[in-house]
Amino acid sequence: MSLEQLLAWIPPGSPDEALARRINFDQLPSHVAIIMDGNGRWAAQRHLPRVEGHRAGIDSVRDVVETSARLGIDVLTLYAFSVENWKRPRAEINTLMTLLKRYIRLELSTLLKNNIRFQVIGRSEELAPDVQRELEIGIRQTAANTGMLFNIALNYGGRSEIVDAARRAIASGIAAADLDERRFSELLYTARQPDPDLLIRTSGEMRVSNFLLWQIAYAEIWVTETLWPDFRRRHLLEAVLAYQKRDRRYGGIKPSPVALSIK
Ligand code: IPE
Ligand code: IPE
Ligand code: MG
Repeated sequence: MSLEQLLAWIPPGSPDEALARRINFDQLPSHVAIIMDGNGRWAAQRHLPRVEGHRAGIDSVRDVVETSARLGIDVLTLYAFSVENWKRPRAEINTLMTLLKRYIRLELSTLLKNNIRFQVIGRSEELAPDVQRELEIGIRQTAANTGMLFNIALNYGGRSEIVDAARRAIASGIAAADLDERRFSELLYTARQPDPDLLIRTSGEMRVSNFLLWQIAYAEIWVTETLWPDFRRRHLLEAVLAYQKRDRRYGGIKPSPVALSIK
């Protein structure tokens, strides 16, 4: 999209507008992936039950999804529930699933309005049937949209994704000699999507927690102390601005101005 699309949605004269004007729209990350962390700590700081942090985190999801679409990000992936999160108390898991269902139902019109295509990555077949039904409605209704792809990572694990891809390779009878990185990446949940350029983690933890292990090989990582329920458009714009200052070398060397002029 464009600066105009973004500014149409930002109060004029606000600090967010100043941030938006500094973005270089020719150098946007194509894929932004976010580890939404810190809901429990946000609630604890307010002496509230953990689930209140999850509830508050939904507003951050809304803000980030629409900001990303208006910015012109091609793919946004949000980590909502890991394969390890089943270790949490049953009541917390149930609330998370209920919030997820409600989010899809209430936000469908926003997704459609913004031409966003919704998709799930993870072992969604292991989720409860009512959750699967709601997800399928969201996926079906947005399937023809041509704008941003919004992946929600649910019952997702980076290692299980790689195991699932290996199983698919075996099941499809690919010869060992034919399997290379390109073919393998086509077997992942994110087949045909660009790898994340920018990986954001909220609430200060310096770890990847089994998220997109294959795909983040060369992602630029940006960690903020901000807890997920406090994360807003401003923080996303700050992350993109920080990303645009990074020097991505992919194992090579930075071309010097002299070398460039010789060419
Ligand atoms: C992230 O917040 C949400 C999910 C993992 C579903 P947490 O619930 O992990 O919050 P903290 O990390 O305990 O603060
Ligand atoms: C990562 O957060 C998973 C999601 C955001 C869904 P966690 O809170 O589960 O990760 P750890 O336990 O801090 O590594
Ligand atoms: Mg956490």
